[in-house]
Amino acid sequence: MAESMQGLKRTARCAEFTTEDIGKTVTAMGWVQKSRNKGSLVFTDVRDRSGIVQVIFEEDICGTEVFEKAGSLHSEYCIAVTGVIRSRGKDVNTELATGAIEIEAKDLRILSQSATLPFPIEAETKTREELRLKYRYLDLRRAPLQRNIALRSKLTISVRNYLAENGFLEIETPTLIKSTPEGARDYLVPSRVHQGEFYALPQSPQLLKQLLMVSGFDRYFQLARCYRDEDLRADRQPEFTQIDMELSFADIDDVIAVNEGLIKRMFKEVIGVDVKLPLRRMDWKTAMDVYGSDKPDLRFDLPIKDISDVVRGTEFAVFKSALDNNGVVRGICVPGEGHMPRKKIDALVDVAKYYGGKGLAYLCVNCGENGAHKCSFAKFMTPEELDKIVEAMGAKEGDLLVFAADKLSTVRNVMGNVRLEIGKQLDLIDKNAWEFLWVTEFPLLEWSEEENRFMAMHHPFTAPMDEDWQYIDSDPGRVRAKAYDIVLNGTELGGGSVRIHQADVQEKMLEVLGFTPEVANEQFGFLLEAFKYGVPPHAGLAYGLDRVAMWMAGADSIRDVMAFPKLKDASDAMMGAPDKVDDKQLTELGILIDPEVLKAQNEANKED
Ligand code: AMO
Ligand code: AMP
Repeated sequence: MAESMQGLKRTARCAEFTTEDIGKTVTAMGWVQKSRNKGSLVFTDVRDRSGIVQVIFEEDICGTEVFEKAGSLHSEYCIAVTGVIRSRGKDVNTELATGAIEIEAKDLRILSQSATLPFPIEAETKTREELRLKYRYLDLRRAPLQRNIALRSKLTISVRNYLAENGFLEIETPTLIKSTPEGARDYLVPSRVHQGEFYALPQSPQLLKQLLMVSGFDRYFQLARCYRDEDLRADRQPEFTQIDMELSFADIDDVIAVNEGLIKRMFKEVIGVDVKLPLRRMDWKTAMDVYGSDKPDLRFDLPIKDISDVVRGTEFAVFKSALDNNGVVRGICVPGEGHMPRKKIDALVDVAKYYGGKGLAYLCVNCGENGAHKCSFAKFMTPEELDKIVEAMGAKEGDLLVFAADKLSTVRNVMGNVRLEIGKQLDLIDKNAWEFLWVTEFPLLEWSEEENRFMAMHHPFTAPMDEDWQYIDSDPGRVRAKAYDIVLNGTELGGGSVRIHQADVQEKMLEVLGFTPEVANEQFGFLLEAFKYGVPPHAGLAYGLDRVAMWMAGADSIRDVMAFPKLKDASDAMMGAPDKVDDKQLTELGILIDPEVLKAQNEANKED
């Protein structure tokens, strides 16, 4: 039985009724959270996105027919109730915003019934995520997700208002574009009209927004859908949204100024957090050397220190061989943790190994017998040499020192992750802190062992620092970029750069990246051509909107702030996408699926 709502008008959302409404006749509509039949009374909690209101059915008041209908209510029936708001007197339910009132029902319509749910609609859920995502429309009825999605809406509106007030135009760019190399793998869309040819879905609107600067739009923004076929994690989805912007006649400080204003505004407006400006800045090298990461978590300190020069010439083979091979030895001092149980130290060694280290040497300052140091490499060094290390690390009695020795990139990665692990283990992270940081002066290029060539660290359109460009041929790795990332609590919220706006610099950059002029022309010809017609200097930035929303909502994953996210294998559990299509559709596209090729590729994917 599903009744019509004809003639009824909802007075307000369930949780919008207050004691001011006492005595008024109202109509509420929503879902049955729970209904309890107490013989002469039926209590029904009605829920909508605002919250819950309690409805009471008394046979004397609503009549037998309505009372019997009320007795048939089950969870998640969608109903309309008309009745009078009355006070609950002393019987206030402090758990509910509407706990001081209730609706004394006069009439009830069952707008639609509900089958038994695959899982209950409750704030704290133990239901596994796969099942919740299959029935995402039900999962979204849960209060925390209702809150997150509403928060996200508030966020996008706040962003739009701020950027519009600051002279940005919102411009949409196409999502069927040309595949360009670099970055992640593209999602491709076959063309029917141009058989055998493919569009790519944009990984970001990067080149299009640069072209909008060539067109003279000056300040652009878009809440842009982006698509990347990459391995998924808690903060990565195959399709996601960027707060994407580009500014003409702007340098690093101009972009940072506009964005500090945006960050302050959105955090205040959406979650009431006061962000203090200016935000901290740190150059990439310092971030990598002192925190072992290009997105340092500054909610706790524990800096990494270099002791290569202190231990040079000592006999500990691990340190010696690292230094002989041009590597480094670096350590962290953990104050007061010299008596950390062996098991916990071993757990740190495992972290080091997981991140590519060969081990983790340790020294517990004056924690051994007769006040000697307890140390995993004591037998390879004199007590004086150990004392020197302790001194260089600025450590005192009772502190724990841990060290990694290897090539520079390995030591940075190992110590960065050991630092995070110690922060977690010792509960050093202030959960209420909002530690923003601009990381600047990234290297322009990054050597890829896999490809045996330099790759763009950000993307191939990032401008070099003027003073470093002279090294582009002699020492490309030394050239720093006018690139910046905005980091919050150890995650990358966004990144951007000043762009190359001179055609000759852009061509040189593509050459260094290994593009022949022909290939460069084929792939970026439209950009190089545009650069002939008066390009303004320009710069921009893009945030992961989902990541910003995730932090604001206090969620563990961006999936919790997306209406319909995908599973880890990039599939949509609800719709069942991706899916096979009709042979007819394939034929139209000129596509024939070869089972042998599929099989071979499947094997190859597994090995990856
Ligand atoms: P970048 O590739 O650094 O820069 O992306 C910008 C921001 O987008 C977010 N992000 C993601 N969020 C969810 N899932 C993903 N798979 C994902 N990948 C990236 C991150 C990241 O910081 N065009 C440039 C920006 C520019 O130079 O203006 C770009 O896309 O939060
Ligand atoms: P070993 O001589 O291999 O028993 O190592 C002695 C100590 O050095 C142990 O505590 C190891 O965990 C540690 N160790 C081994 N390799 C490294 C490395 N590359 N960096 C730091 N410590 C290491």
